[in-house]
Amino acid sequence: MRSGKRFEARVAIVTGAARGIGKRVACDMSAEGAYVVLADIEEQALNAALHDIQEAGGTCLGVKCDITDPDQVDALVARTLEEAGQIDILINNAGFLPVGGIEDLDEELLNKTVAINLKGVLYCIRAVTPSMKARGYGKIVNVSSITGKNGDNSSSPVYGASKGAVITLTRSIARELGPYGINCNAVAPHAVMTDLMHYWDEQRKKKAADAIPMRRLGTVEDISHLMMFLAADESSFITGETVNINGGYYMD
Ligand SMILES: NC(=O)c1ccc[n+]([C@@H]2O[C@H](COP(=O)([O-])OP(=O)(O)OC[C@H]3O[C@@H](n4cnc5c(N)ncnc54)[C@H](O)[C@@H]3O)[C@@H](O)[C@H]2O)c1
Repeated sequence: MRSGKRFEARVAIVTGAARGIGKRVACDMSAEGAYVVLADIEEQALNAALHDIQEAGGTCLGVKCDITDPDQVDALVARTLEEAGQIDILINNAGFLPVGGIEDLDEELLNKTVAINLKGVLYCIRAVTPSMKARGYGKIVNVSSITGKNGDNSSSPVYGASKGAVITLTRSIARELGPYGINCNAVAPHAVMTDLMHYWDEQRKKKAADAIPMRRLGTVEDISHLMMFLAADESSFITGETVNINGGYYMD
């Protein structure tokens, strides 16, 4: 019997779902009827997120997965298909933000950022593609950043570069997989106070909020709402877009 929930009978994988934006969207999609598969490297936080969803009556599965390892990503997708039978939605959210300038960028930091923010995103898309193509249905939501369009101003230059690559990737995938009924879009957030933004002190936050036309910082709820729109059937004629979500701070 249909309950009329937006994501009823849909199966969604959310990467980086243990905390921050990923946890919020996993909880919100579950509340709207989705079977949510939460993937993250942080086991304890992942278990806490699973507990919250189950307490609220949702159906979910937790998979410890490092998206920089293609074998673990393939195993995540195989496990999802085994347990849930299908994959309708991929929220490619896991990310890493290094701080410092160009001169602080050593090989390790450079490789880690590209491995998580670009290669990991690609691995996840590659892994879900065969089953989405076979069913002629799929919604892929990538996570870029304002820095992917406008460049970094407080993060390392490799962060914006990796998030800019996500915008290009989003367009390429949209073009390649559109004929199979698969949408691929991205969100480009700014100034959401998750653990990722630990290095912003109160003064930095105030300065950022004052520079935003809406005069506030972003929230995980703001981003979750947009991700859900892009993951739902209402947005089925939108593909290849990277949508700004920044209170008007940057417009293009
Ligand atoms: N917070 C912001 O202002 C902001 C702005 C623009 C873009 N973003 C992007 O939004 C996404 C979510 O960020 P957030 O702010 O919620 O940060 P967060 O640090 O709170 O959450 C990131 C999650 O990703 C997980 N993760 C990191 N590396 C992983 C890996 N290799 N495999 C699996 N999981 C991994 C972390 O364990 C964590 O749970 C990221 O892609 C980030 O770059 C955030």
